[in-house]
Amino acid sequence: MLRIGMLTSGGDCQALNAAMRGVVKSLAANVADLEVYGFENGYKGLIYGNYRLLTSKDFSGILTKGGTILGSSRQPFKLMRVPDENGVDKVEAMKQTYYKLSLDCLVILGGNGTQKTANLLREEGLNVIHLPKTIDNDIYGTDVTFGFQSAINIATDAIDCIHTTAASHNRVFIVEVMGHKVGWLTLYAGIAGGADIILLPEIPYDIDKVVEAVQKRSSEGKGFTILAVAEGAISKEDAKLSKKEYKKKVEKRKAPSVSYEIAEQIKEVCGTEVRVTVPGHTQRGGSPCPYDRVLCTRLGSAAAQAIMDRDFGCMIAMINGKTKKVPLEECAGKLKSVDPDGQMIIEAKRMGISFGD
Ligand code: F6P
Repeated sequence: MLRIGMLTSGGDCQALNAAMRGVVKSLAANVADLEVYGFENGYKGLIYGNYRLLTSKDFSGILTKGGTILGSSRQPFKLMRVPDENGVDKVEAMKQTYYKLSLDCLVILGGNGTQKTANLLREEGLNVIHLPKTIDNDIYGTDVTFGFQSAINIATDAIDCIHTTAASHNRVFIVEVMGHKVGWLTLYAGIAGGADIILLPEIPYDIDKVVEAVQKRSSEGKGFTILAVAEGAISKEDAKLSKKEYKKKVEKRKAPSVSYEIAEQIKEVCGTEVRVTVPGHTQRGGSPCPYDRVLCTRLGSAAAQAIMDRDFGCMIAMINGKTKKVPLEECAGKLKSVDPDGQMIIEAKRMGISFGD
């Protein structure tokens, strides 16, 4: 008998179901006696004992389905050791659920915060396997996370659509792209969508340089300009502030986000119309793209093999096109950011894209 538990935690993304299907189909084909428990709404389900026994039927027809059949929630890592409002010790409660069900392993799908909690559970003696999910692509130790490619497609589509209307109206347009504290999604979608200016958290911008790039285009007779701005983009000035000072500044900011602030600044100097488009959570929605379906099927299958080998405490990563087990203690708590001096940035700059630096 093999008993596994599964949960999806943090912000959702497109290929969570595909990944769970990959794990369960591979196990079901190779293990005679399998029980799969699905915990509802992330770690919450594990803490409060909300779970259901899943059958192969639950995994049928979900390869292309976005979201997660288990539901998800954010349970901040920094609060994991803090008892809840009723005094429940969350870590102890998770362990109790695990032991009550006599699980052999927990398969945990999630991003950075989720991974940190997975590592904590490993330190507490539970068998865990982590699958790297996030549209942000910021998980250290894997070349790519699932959800990233699907989100690139959506953000690129948004930029493509903005292109035609921007050109018709001779407008400056800002498309604000998700990505939390990193710029991977903005960089890829920005390049794919032909953005003229790309602003990333890893390359603090100088607003004068941004304005200069807009003016240069109009002086060349180009009526419109497209900016792809990461939601976490930060000015050179703000990058010098302490975390606390910056947080305070953002709280006081009148504009709804950094993009609106930049739009105001461009408008003020250039006197042109500037519009902001925020695709927001659409970037996490809908069906996974074929790349993510294949990626998740492979990661899921590799996770199943690790479970059958009883090789736990790792993330299943994709490195140079091959699945690989990366020990959680090597990757948990680390962030994978865009290298501001990396080849991709150099190549983009060479062909005239401004990063506002
Ligand atoms: O981590 C995925 C992500 O979509 C980020 O890109 C974004 O900053 C964040 O989640 C949004 O979180 P929420 O869904 O809680 O608004």
